Amino acid sequence: MCGIVGHIGSNNSVEKVLEGLKRLEYRGYDSAGVCFKDQSGELSLYKKTGKLVNLTNLLKNIDYGSSSSSVGHTRWATHGAVNDINSHPHLYKNLAIVHNGIIENADELKKDLVAKGFKFKSETDTEVFLGLLSFELEQEKDLLKATSSAFKKIKGSSAFVIQSKDSDGIITVKNGAPLVCGVNEILGEAMVSSDPYALMGFVEKIFFPDDDVICFLKKGEINFYDLDGTPSNRYLAKDLETNFEATTKGQFEHYMLKEIYEQPALIRNLVDNYFKDIDLNLEKPKRLHIVGCGTAFYAGMVVGQIWEKRLKIPVSMELASEFRYKDPLLLPGDLAIFISQSGETADTLAAQKLCKDRGIKTFSIVNVEGSSLFRAVDQNFLIHAGQEIGVASTKAFTQQVLTGRIICEAFADNKDFSSLKQKFSLLSHRIDELLNKAELFKDIASKIYNFGGFFFTGRGIYYPVALEGALKLKEIAYVHAEGYAAGELKHGPIALIDERMVNIAIVGPELFEKTLSNIQEVKARKGVIIGIGPEVSELRNICDLFIPLTFEGLEELSPLYVNVANQLLSYHIAKHKGTDIDRPRNLAKSVTVE
Ligand code: F6R
Repeated sequence: MCGIVGHIGSNNSVEKVLEGLKRLEYRGYDSAGVCFKDQSGELSLYKKTGKLVNLTNLLKNIDYGSSSSSVGHTRWATHGAVNDINSHPHLYKNLAIVHNGIIENADELKKDLVAKGFKFKSETDTEVFLGLLSFELEQEKDLLKATSSAFKKIKGSSAFVIQSKDSDGIITVKNGAPLVCGVNEILGEAMVSSDPYALMGFVEKIFFPDDDVICFLKKGEINFYDLDGTPSNRYLAKDLETNFEATTKGQFEHYMLKEIYEQPALIRNLVDNYFKDIDLNLEKPKRLHIVGCGTAFYAGMVVGQIWEKRLKIPVSMELASEFRYKDPLLLPGDLAIFISQSGETADTLAAQKLCKDRGIKTFSIVNVEGSSLFRAVDQNFLIHAGQEIGVASTKAFTQQVLTGRIICEAFADNKDFSSLKQKFSLLSHRIDELLNKAELFKDIASKIYNFGGFFFTGRGIYYPVALEGALKLKEIAYVHAEGYAAGELKHGPIALIDERMVNIAIVGPELFEKTLSNIQEVKARKGVIIGIGPEVSELRNICDLFIPLTFEGLEELSPLYVNVANQLLSYHIAKHKGTDIDRPRNLAKSVTVE
């Protein structure tokens, strides 16, 4: 979480950093700040609680146009309250820093620094690094060496950008947190950021440094050093498209809605991207572990059911935060799939490292090319979802499941993808039809948004989308919602059912009768039933409100179709609630802390 940006080069440095922060705001929006070198070479600091717009308002009457070096930050608070003082950048004497991550031994280091006379202004762990750095600089008299010495003393995952009044460059270093640098040799500029998206259109070449590589950015060049000060080649270099158009909402009120509506086209693109020869560098596994967090984990649950049925191998679906600490049983011939939109989720990365260290082959289903996960695994399968800006994940879920479905077919050694291709086309067509029924979702949302709580229920292949539906609703509408296996309600949660409780009951053709009985049980206790299922009278008649779907031909892909209905419902409920749909409170898109 937190977005960091740094720039050195032409005079409009602050503008570029602000544009970078705008593109990174999905990473956190508790506060934002910028520090730049002014005309007299002094560091000028501006920071403000709340979204980036508060900072840009603060800067309205400030003359920053001539600055050619600046660092900026958008915060997702970890250490210390959300306020101006805890906002980044942090400034001490001639040094300014921005930080993404957590310093795990901050308390211990802080005691030492206080004893040495360092006066802390904020409650952040970041200031601990600033204190260390300033003491090291007093001794070393060299910013590179001081950065290295200070960085070696901290534990945890962090990325820093450091600006010094006395240096003609900016320095950046990271361990376990995302960071990418870029250069534009023609314009004589260099930039750094938490995500390549913030650099697009500004630089032509990007570099993903490995952990513990110090990058020294100057006008039009970057030099890399290992922590012992020797030049380093531990980075991945890539060219970047320079003619970039920032993603906009277009005709849509929110990015989330736009991303929901992009799904049919993305499914069609996936067909073009994958239904050729799929190169598998990996053997068919004896057992499979599928690992992810949140929405990516639920996508993994859908994928896992498909793989187990199709390949007849045992599949375990694992939450990365649990898997990494449970000392999992990993055997020769096992394969582990890591699913992630960002490719930067700390728990997912740690789980992948654990498998790699134990000699297990790993592959990713990931959206961000060049991300930490992308660079760590044996083979990557990109989901081709494009930039997902809405903090609540929508289109990535669909693409993750479909990519998993395709790879499964390749492992089954089926070279004829024609019937799967047809199923994908049918899915995109059905989702298109559903998206044309916006009025139905608006109407239902207007009738239920004020109820006391929501249970999403489903069985079998629909259980994971019941979980995902509840997650989406609570994230963006701030209402209490739970996802449950429909057959489990009677084992406890049914105690909560009364006339204030809504049951969003997902009923597919699989286990139709059984799911219907579960609905009857809720109905008998006065629960409000919103049915999502096939247009049949037994179902429609017991539902208070109904969303008819056509399942024929979709089979194992039908959970994705249902999920779009859930997405639309959550979106319209959130609209009634008046929440900040694209940037819900307390959340950040890329969870780079444990
Ligand atoms: C929910 C959501 C999160 C993410 C989770 C994993 O809408 O977006 O639950 O799915 O934080 O993130 P990635 O996929 O980037 O690893």
